[in-house]
Amino acid sequence: MGWNNWNAFGCDVSESLLLSTSEQLVSLGLRDLGYQYVVLDDCWQKESGRDQHGKLQPEPKKFPNGLKSISDRLHEQGLKFGMYSSAGEMTCARYAGSLDHEIDDAESFASWGVDMLKYDSCYHMGRIGTPLISFNRFKTMSDALQKTGRNVLLNLCNWGEDFVHTWGMSIANSWRMSGDIYDSFTRPDDLCGCDPTVISDPFCIAPGTHCSVLFILNKIAPIADRSIPGSFADMDMLEVGQGGMTDEEYKAHFALWAALKSPLFLGNDVRAMSASSYSIVNNPAILALSQDPHGRALTRVRRDAGPDVAKDQWGVGETHVWSGYLDNGDEAVVFLNAGAADLDDMSCSLAEIFTAFGPGGSAPHVQHDWAVYDLWAHRMSEATAAGIIAAATAEERAALLKKADWFNATETSYAEGLRNGDPRLFGEKIGVVEAGGVLRAPVKSHAARVFRLRRIAKYGETFKGKSIDRVARDEL
Ligand code: GLA
Repeated sequence: MGWNNWNAFGCDVSESLLLSTSEQLVSLGLRDLGYQYVVLDDCWQKESGRDQHGKLQPEPKKFPNGLKSISDRLHEQGLKFGMYSSAGEMTCARYAGSLDHEIDDAESFASWGVDMLKYDSCYHMGRIGTPLISFNRFKTMSDALQKTGRNVLLNLCNWGEDFVHTWGMSIANSWRMSGDIYDSFTRPDDLCGCDPTVISDPFCIAPGTHCSVLFILNKIAPIADRSIPGSFADMDMLEVGQGGMTDEEYKAHFALWAALKSPLFLGNDVRAMSASSYSIVNNPAILALSQDPHGRALTRVRRDAGPDVAKDQWGVGETHVWSGYLDNGDEAVVFLNAGAADLDDMSCSLAEIFTAFGPGGSAPHVQHDWAVYDLWAHRMSEATAAGIIAAATAEERAALLKKADWFNATETSYAEGLRNGDPRLFGEKIGVVEAGGVLRAPVKSHAARVFRLRRIAKYGETFKGKSIDRVARDEL
């Protein structure tokens, strides 16, 4: 989790941008919710390229004190420093790339105190076309980073090419699986060219840009189970707060990225954040899905795109149900309505929700009662969020966060909070689905509902070390 400058600033990077942002991350409490990596994307180099010793050089007008001073400052603030290069002769914005310079460049990154490398794939000199060719090209940097002895998280960015979902986890901590996201919920665009529902599409050779939230969801659906703890499919940086989507759309985008275990990189200008954006990305009950110790993504158990689903103007109206197991035995469920009309009654049976444990209702889970928790129920109020943003000093902000009793993952990890049943991570109980039953909820157009199902013990059983009588059961 962290922040990356690309979506909001593109090539307009500088020391002052990074350091003014890092101050905001700390004082808004975002670092303490887990947003730790401050990532400098493309365009940080001198246009003249490498120096006479073959080393990469930061542009002094943008970084007058060099890069080590930035990482030192970030480390003092309890943050981490991420940087960017490409496994090509040039980066995507045509600065010097690291292909065939991996050892030199890994040494530079380590000497600057870098903690994460986003490693792109532009200008690859034709070294693409089979999984093995791409694997070897990226592995060279993975090995070079290891050789420096510094612990550097590696984020591959080859947009799903050459079946990265089958090999990325051997050499990297995350791997981009689509072309670049843009700030739209459903709008298709020719520049994001591949058929999202056909993962093996042989013509998907240019994953491109302008990929909508819905496109990325459809593209990840068949490979969502490939993310494992330590190496996750990267659905690209967040667009929350950029202005192109509605509040409900941003909530759905954020919650699905969290539930699918995508890295969460804020992509907006956090120095000019609205209260509504802030209160989306600071929701600890949603973040606890992202940081759940089980570390596996939800998978899609249902997609309806037939004539019954209201289409929007682009003809992409559809609904999804995503579900997945969580470390403590709870089940996360997301109802997504990407259609043009509000749905009063979206539904999914327990049999379908628990398909992963046995199809056709054979999962034992279907025979239990489940309490339903709404994970957006305790979103920070607009007034509290606006008050924190408007506070004049970092001290005032800290006091307001304390008053709001906001979750602090630096003090208590999500794993511990979940183990202790910290109510801030569980939203609010809104109902019960009985054994063999159906989860139902209204879902507005272009919105998602996000639930945690918690098993209700049966009378007479011993559950979580407690023997269950009527009183105990009623407490659950
Ligand atoms: C590619 C990547 C983006 C960004 C740009 C920078 O398009 O996919 O995320 O890093 O390059 O040029």
